[in-house]
Amino acid sequence: MTSEDPAAKLRLLEKQASICVDCRLHEGRKTVVFGAGATDADLMFIGEGPGQHEDEQGLPFVGRSGQLLSTLLERVGLTRPEVYISNVVKCRPPGNRDPRPDEIDACKGYLIEQIKLIDPAVVVTLGNFSTKLLLKTQVGITRMRGQAYPWWGRHVVPTFHPAAALRNGERVVEEMVGDLQLAVQVIEQQPAPAPPEPSVPQQIELFS
Ligand code: URA
Repeated sequence: MTSEDPAAKLRLLEKQASICVDCRLHEGRKTVVFGAGATDADLMFIGEGPGQHEDEQGLPFVGRSGQLLSTLLERVGLTRPEVYISNVVKCRPPGNRDPRPDEIDACKGYLIEQIKLIDPAVVVTLGNFSTKLLLKTQVGITRMRGQAYPWWGRHVVPTFHPAAALRNGERVVEEMVGDLQLAVQVIEQQPAPAPPEPSVPQQIELFS
């Protein structure tokens, strides 16, 4: 294992994140929920932020939303160990409130580095927060979903957050399955060419 190994770099990044105090969310957290899954996954999911169960267990999407996410993955022939799952913010917002802009800003460097190291062909953004962050849009998820957007040498496929499907029922579940099928199709059609590594100034510009 050399320092060039993406998995080793990811572990180092996780270690750094585990002691992060860059925003107020560190004050209430039990655990930094960095991410989980295959560190060379073709498909990466990005949620919003850890909830109570995630904060306690140190793993993303282990509560009810996570159970639904596992079911959705099964519907398109995938399992959790085959994908990588993370969040926009790595620490639980108090009372599960929405993450605030300055918290997202403080945390986004970890996410960008994770995407670069895992190097997935497709990133599925779950809900408004991750979609708006990556695609730099104010357009809501209902209008954004259903399409694959070229993004820095790979694709972003936005879909609803599983919590929205838990609230709104079968129609939303089926739309999410359709979005995941699209993500799988994009991966299969496009044996991803090596994406250009964005330079540091470009990364900053990406989220400015
Ligand atoms: N909701 C999220 O957005 N992320 C989790 O990890 C769990 C629930």
